[in-house]
Amino acid sequence: MTTRHAHIVGWGKAVPERVLTNDDLSQMVDTSDEWIRTRTGIGERRIAGDDETTLTLSLRAARQALERAGLNPAHLDLIIVATVTPEHNFPATACLVQDGLGATNAAAFDLSAGCTGFVYGLSVAADLIAGGNYDTALVIGAETLSRITDWNDRATCVLFGDGAGAVVLQGSEAKGGVLATILGADGSGGDLLKLPAGGSREPASHRTVAEGRHYLQMRGREVFRFAVRKMPAATRQVLERAGEDLESLDLLIPHQANQRIIQSATRGLKIPPEKVFSNLERYGNTSSASIPIALCEAVEQGRVQRDDLVVCVGFGAGLTWGAAAIRWSVPLPPERPPRRVQFWQEMRYRYAALRSLVRRLLRRLLSLGVRE
Ligand SMILES: CC(C)(COP(=O)(O)OP(=O)(O)OC[C@H]1O[C@@H](n2cnc3c(N)ncnc32)[C@H](O)[C@@H]1OP(=O)(O)O)[C@@H](O)C(=O)NCCC(=O)NCCS
Repeated sequence: MTTRHAHIVGWGKAVPERVLTNDDLSQMVDTSDEWIRTRTGIGERRIAGDDETTLTLSLRAARQALERAGLNPAHLDLIIVATVTPEHNFPATACLVQDGLGATNAAAFDLSAGCTGFVYGLSVAADLIAGGNYDTALVIGAETLSRITDWNDRATCVLFGDGAGAVVLQGSEAKGGVLATILGADGSGGDLLKLPAGGSREPASHRTVAEGRHYLQMRGREVFRFAVRKMPAATRQVLERAGEDLESLDLLIPHQANQRIIQSATRGLKIPPEKVFSNLERYGNTSSASIPIALCEAVEQGRVQRDDLVVCVGFGAGLTWGAAAIRWSVPLPPERPPRRVQFWQEMRYRYAALRSLVRRLLRRLLSLGVRE
């Protein structure tokens, strides 16, 4: 069997329109623009509107990524949504994305690895593609953290924002794409950043709601120390696994949590600031969405060119950390199966798209009938 390499062939992002500035926050809690900027580097963040959810943001980002890849949803055979704010506890948000896109040929599941979720998803998808059983995967990082934020807690509410980012990965014999990934976890730090209630330990009750236990809780200083230690180590490790070195790195895309964490990590690695991407000032920490949104904007701004070496590195609740080394390789050299295979593949995709359309129409008609 020939070796398959997973390449990023499409990228997309979606952020809510509503902007919440530091000055707005200073009207809500005892804080100031100056405190937030100097301690975190954040200037503003996006907050989901009433009709926006993790699913709607995921769908917008996914559609943009598919369009840029020049693929229709029926080409997907795998969908992974990394999130800590899923649409529901179950079914998986990925299944709702599958239905919303009409990606009828795709397996779908969610993945929870805190703010490292997107890197975890990328790693799993790239390995499944390299294994040969999957060919075209959609990996989404999406969050509506505003729904689990305690807007009275100044230590956390200034940090987070909402958004989604997505990539389409495709297998090819061409070398490049996701060169290597490393993933790590230390569950002994699980208490440092968590959502206490709503699971089997503390099911939702009047008490849990009254005590605010459905809001995110964090011990910021400890998380800070952990991040500063793990980001440089993970970056070095993934480059080593990819057979590359720091000098060859063209762009580092770190998880956008705090500018001081990013600076401290990159200073340790001696990476010049122009090789580090940051959009934290505009979006705050969007957890699983932060790296794919940043990657998408880096490409849109021309900061990533063909053959560039990019490292995405993240850390987060769990505790977890992870990094991916990517040789940017779009456009991919064409890989054309024989004409007969192409014809039947196209027929299969069209049939699947038609079947999905008919199913959704029927479901819509039936639900209208029930309501009447
Ligand atoms: C949260 C974080 C910005 C706090 O910065 P810090 O320098 O560690 O600040 P501290 O928590 O030590 O608090 C210092 C003081 O500022 C106060 N403070 C906290 N939040 C504040 C705010 N929004 N505005 C004004 N003052 C604030 C604290 O109450 C404390 O006051 P005190 O000294 O009178 O007790 C920082 O710890 C951090 O970024 N941690 C990592 C968080 C993170 O990235 N989480 C996501 C992981 S994926």
